[in-house]
Amino acid sequence: MIASAAADARHIPVLLDEVIASLAIRPGETHVDGTFGAGGYSRAILASGAGHVIAFDRDPDAIAEGAALVAESGGRLTLVHRCFSEMDAALAERGIAAVDGVVLDIGVSSMQLDRADRGFSFQADGPLDMRMGQSGMTAAEFLNESDEAEIADVLFTLGEEPRARRVARAIVAARPITRTGELAAVVRKALGMRPGDKKDPSTRTFQAIRIHLNRELDELSEGLEAAERVLGEGGRLSVVTFHSIEDRIAKRFLRERSGATPAGSRHRPAAAQGEAPTFIAAAKPVRAGEAELARNPRARSATLRTARRTAATPRISSVAKGNRS
Ligand SMILES: C[S@@+](CC[C@H](N)C(=O)[O-])C[C@H]1O[C@@H](n2cnc3c(N)ncnc32)[C@H](O)[C@@H]1O
Repeated sequence: MIASAAADARHIPVLLDEVIASLAIRPGETHVDGTFGAGGYSRAILASGAGHVIAFDRDPDAIAEGAALVAESGGRLTLVHRCFSEMDAALAERGIAAVDGVVLDIGVSSMQLDRADRGFSFQADGPLDMRMGQSGMTAAEFLNESDEAEIADVLFTLGEEPRARRVARAIVAARPITRTGELAAVVRKALGMRPGDKKDPSTRTFQAIRIHLNRELDELSEGLEAAERVLGEGGRLSVVTFHSIEDRIAKRFLRERSGATPAGSRHRPAAAQGEAPTFIAAAKPVRAGEAELARNPRARSATLRTARRTAATPRISSVAKGNRS
C-alpha cells in the first residue's frame, strides 16, 4: 500500500495537486515520471491508482534513495538510472510500447541543492561540481579550462546575466577556482553585493553553469520529443519548469505540436506544413496558489504546462534532423 503523497519527502513536490489532476490517472494505467528526485510525484501517481510507474533519474543518489519506495510499491514502481531524453529506448527495452502519462519536473532537487558536496549551491561551500549525473565535466573543470568568451556566452545565454563579460573576466583572473564559496565571492565582488539585495548576484552564474554542464535545455527538448513518441492516444503530458528559458521551450514545443507556430530554432523544431497536431495543449499555464507559496517559496517560479496526445504520428525529432548543437 502506497502512503499519502507527500509523506516524508525531503524535497517538497511542487504543484503536486495540479500535476496529479492534470495526469487524470485511471486505475491500472502506466505512467512515466521523468524526474524521480525524492519520489514525490511517483508516490502520488501510485497512490492515485496507477498500475505501474517507470521513473527516471540521472542522479545515482536519487535512484539509490528510491529503493525504499520501490520495495513499498509491491512491484508497481520501476526506477531507471538514465536521462529522460532516453525514455523511449528504456521503455522499449522493457517491452512497453506506449504509456498513459509523462511528467517532467525540470531542475535540481532540494537534496542536490542542500548537499554542499554536490557543489550546486552558492550558499554552502563545497567542491565546484554541479553534475546531476555525477559523471562528465565538473564546474571547476569548465571554469578553469574554458576561455573567457565561452564562459561569458554561457552566463549570458543560460543565466541571462546582463554583465556576463565582467563576471567571466573576474573568473578568469581568479583561476584556479575549485570551491563554490570562491566562485560566489568572485561574482559578488565583480557585480557588487549591496546589503538588502533580495537576490544573491551569483544566482544567475550558478544557474547558467549548472544548465550548461548538464545540457539541461537539450535534455528538455529531447525529453519532450521522447514523450511525444511514447504517449499513446489520449496520453497526458505535464511539464513543470522553474525559469523562463525552460518554460519558453515547453511552451513553444506545445504550441508547435498543437499546430500553432511557424518557424524553428535550436531548441524548437520547425513546424512542418500540414502535419497533423500531435498534442492538444491547455491554453494557459498553471502556477502555484497562495497556500502553496506560503508552504514552499520555491514554488514561486514554477510553471506547469499540460497537453493531451492525439493519435497523429510523432514528428521527426530535431536531433534526427540535425538541429542538435
Ligand atoms: C526537481 S527534482 C524532481 C523532484 C520530484 N518531482 C519529487 O517530487 O521529488 C528533479 C530531479 O530530476 C533529475 N533530473 C534532472 N534532469 C534530468 C534528466 N534529463 N534525466 C533524468 N533525470 C533528471 C534530477 O537529478 C533531480 O533528481
